[in-house]
Amino acid sequence: MNHDRIRAFADNPFVVYPDDQRYADDVRPGGLLDIDPARGWLERIDAARAANLYTFSLPLDARATAASGFGGADLLLFSTYGYLGLNGHPRIVAAATEAAQRWGTTTGGARLLTGTIELHLETERALAAHVGAEAAALFSSGYDANLAAISALFSRRDVAIVDELIHRSILDGCRLAGVQLVRFRHNDTAHLAELLAAHAGSRVMVAVDGVYSMDGDIAPLAEIVALKQRYGAFLLVDESHAVGVLGPEGRGTAAHAGVEPRDVDVVTGSLGKAFPSGGGFVAGSRGLITYLQHGSAPYMFSSAMTPGNAAAIRETLRVIVDEPQHLATMWANAARLRSVVDGLGLDSGNTATPIVPVILGDTVRTYAWARRLLDHGIYTSAVPFPAVAEGQSRLRLCATGSHRPEDFDRLAAALGRLASEELANAG
Ligand SMILES: Cc1ncc(COP(=O)(O)O)c(C=O)c1O
Repeated sequence: MNHDRIRAFADNPFVVYPDDQRYADDVRPGGLLDIDPARGWLERIDAARAANLYTFSLPLDARATAASGFGGADLLLFSTYGYLGLNGHPRIVAAATEAAQRWGTTTGGARLLTGTIELHLETERALAAHVGAEAAALFSSGYDANLAAISALFSRRDVAIVDELIHRSILDGCRLAGVQLVRFRHNDTAHLAELLAAHAGSRVMVAVDGVYSMDGDIAPLAEIVALKQRYGAFLLVDESHAVGVLGPEGRGTAAHAGVEPRDVDVVTGSLGKAFPSGGGFVAGSRGLITYLQHGSAPYMFSSAMTPGNAAAIRETLRVIVDEPQHLATMWANAARLRSVVDGLGLDSGNTATPIVPVILGDTVRTYAWARRLLDHGIYTSAVPFPAVAEGQSRLRLCATGSHRPEDFDRLAAALGRLASEELANAG
């Protein structure tokens, strides 16, 4: 590993600054940044720099997949979202390249105006079929897909009952819609039932993630569907970490749970995780999708997905059916990763997927572990509060279809070293 380059990065990650400048010095009294959140962030970054612990946004010099690189040296990624390990897959790269050659690098407009190409429609049809929905619409991101669906369907007269660990984009969609927001305890269907009963008579949306991105556990969808039916509520499921991952051929949480896909009113998701592309989608009934294409701001007022991204999604849908080995390897690797973390006596929470947290509790401790792992040539994501609850900071590890068995041995050795160094320092 290139230790000097890593140390230099953690000292001053943003090259727009001279090496000896504190970032917080840019906060001038009465200036644009003289607000608590800006000062708070810049001071926190300076504190991380002073301890040489800043590891966010490390600029990779190779493809983002298990075997990547930084500063001219190999880097093993253990937090990439590319669950199936398909980034750089020859068929997908060829499809994106051909699309760029045929359609160019942009569609030059918003979808509703001049930005729709045949490839969008073909991709939407294939995606809808994959998740068992009548129709689907592509968006510029999964974030936009959630904002679009929630703000177009719900308003301040309505109630959103959401899992307390729901993704930020759903919360922001609720804010944009102005709905009354109520949270139920994570995956606690008894609590959800209580809240549904308390809001009987209101128009209610229940929202959950199929797979929770920081914990790797799965929503109990069959019970949630039964409850939403009993109380006449509508259900939105964010499949960002489930599509391509859960169920046969990665068809998602409904397929995994044995739920009729059409019992989920609104399916949303990101296409930049298991799918090696970018963008997001909403899937559901024909009427829902046609409405969102005319009545949701992120669809109407944002440029269309690029041809290359659409082609990558279209081809991925074929690859995951033609080549089941990626999904099978991902699950075998998920079990390996879990046994590495559990085998060292570390806390992996309730994971049931390739996302395996190492819950370390303290934020500085988490930063220190991520930084020390970089010294071992392993890049992981440190996830502090407020992305997770206070005292629940963690490394968010992730197994993919592109990790090799020896990668897990390397990870186990490095984590083991860190744990014993910590013990030695404490003693
Ligand atoms: C559960 C969940 N929903 C939505 C998103 C947003 O997706 P995107 O990155 O495509 O905007 C993410 C990822 O960042 C996510 O984890």
